[in-house]
Amino acid sequence: MNILILGSGGREHALAWAVMQNPKCDKLIVAPGNAGIAQIADCASLDIEQGGAVVTFAEENAIDFVIIGPEAPLAAGVADRLREAGILVFGPSEAAARLEASKSFTKEICDAAKAPTAAYGHFTDADDAKDYVRQQGAPIVVKADGLAAGKGVIVAMDEATALEAIDDMFGGSFGGAGAEVVIEEFMEGEEASLFVLVDGEEVLSIGTAQDHKRVGEGDTGLNTGGMGAYSPAPVLSAEIEARAMEEIIKPTMAEMAKRGAPYQGVLYAGLMIKDGQPRLVEYNVRFGDPECQVLMMRLGAQALDLMHAAAEGRLGEAQVNWGDDHAITVVMAAKGYPGSYQKGTEIQGLEALPEDSSNMVFHAGTKAEGGKILANGGRVLNVTARGETLAEAHERAYAMVERIDWADGFFRRDIGWRALK
Ligand code: AMP
Ligand code: GLY
Repeated sequence: MNILILGSGGREHALAWAVMQNPKCDKLIVAPGNAGIAQIADCASLDIEQGGAVVTFAEENAIDFVIIGPEAPLAAGVADRLREAGILVFGPSEAAARLEASKSFTKEICDAAKAPTAAYGHFTDADDAKDYVRQQGAPIVVKADGLAAGKGVIVAMDEATALEAIDDMFGGSFGGAGAEVVIEEFMEGEEASLFVLVDGEEVLSIGTAQDHKRVGEGDTGLNTGGMGAYSPAPVLSAEIEARAMEEIIKPTMAEMAKRGAPYQGVLYAGLMIKDGQPRLVEYNVRFGDPECQVLMMRLGAQALDLMHAAAEGRLGEAQVNWGDDHAITVVMAAKGYPGSYQKGTEIQGLEALPEDSSNMVFHAGTKAEGGKILANGGRVLNVTARGETLAEAHERAYAMVERIDWADGFFRRDIGWRALK
């Protein structure tokens, strides 16, 4: 099988790494890729949000199967263009991708499916939104409706912060994403993520994970795309996972099918768990980044078979072969992230690190220049390891981190603390 993966982050490096291990993969191209991906696959520059360009590229390169990593091409209908051209693709249609692209749409689907989630109101007018906040009181959560690169959510612990967030959003600080605003009840509990594959009808769990969104140790400081993650998530017990499947995921997938927008691809359910009850925080229509890195470390080569089965509508006959293992990933980021940071600083020591089924440094934002590896983004490396216990995986990952020589980078030393304590 000739395979094309779209994307350029640590998520796509991990996907490429897993796919490459499967003998069914004859050729792999990643577009646009990064310096780490280029060490294991061909990279090609391509505008991945242009469906026409992706179809032409896939045809010219005799691609049999396309895996779409990030949300932007999904929301832009790239999976639809590929399907229309008769090319097998893993990833939801533009209509189904609204589960991430529009928060008010997701809330409406949850209502119809009676899926437990936060109570909410949605508004296109700032004064109405403010009245609602004054009625409900704080803490309360204000969300831009559309895609805002993970920045469109303000968890307001007091009313003034919520009112200010409403002004910001309607004032255009999130562009078109903030023209509509969802205001939600603040949910207490512990957060964890459940990842499932869906083939339009069947749903198959492929694992749980928890990430650390805050930049600082002890989960303090600004929100980021994620400073580290681990899998499995102990808080998501088999029992709670089963409840999330029966009460949230299956009913919402059935509702999507009923509305003529069956879901195909990976669905990432962010859950808030309290007293054994999971409630939906949000859906994403792609793998989490860096959660994908720990899932791929645990699944290995079978990830390709599973994604292929989802794309071909064969999930009913698929099953996951679980190891009794744990994985963790530590993000190394450029100093200053998630604020402004420098690009182009040199990273040394990578070539001496182990690369095997239990140790892997995935590149998130790097480029190769003159034989050197340079930082080329905010989140730069995902140092990932697997072990029989989380403690073993943790030790392996941090042992690699210590050997990476990058003066301009930083990382959190406490990834996994909740599960390790
Ligand atoms: P989202 O972009 O929807 O994942 O939101 C970012 C983060 O905000 C989530 O991971 C939660 O930690 C928090 N959050 C979102 N919605 C709620 C809510 N209704 N109650 C409490 N926390 C929330
Ligand atoms: N790590 C969070 C996300 O991918 O949305």
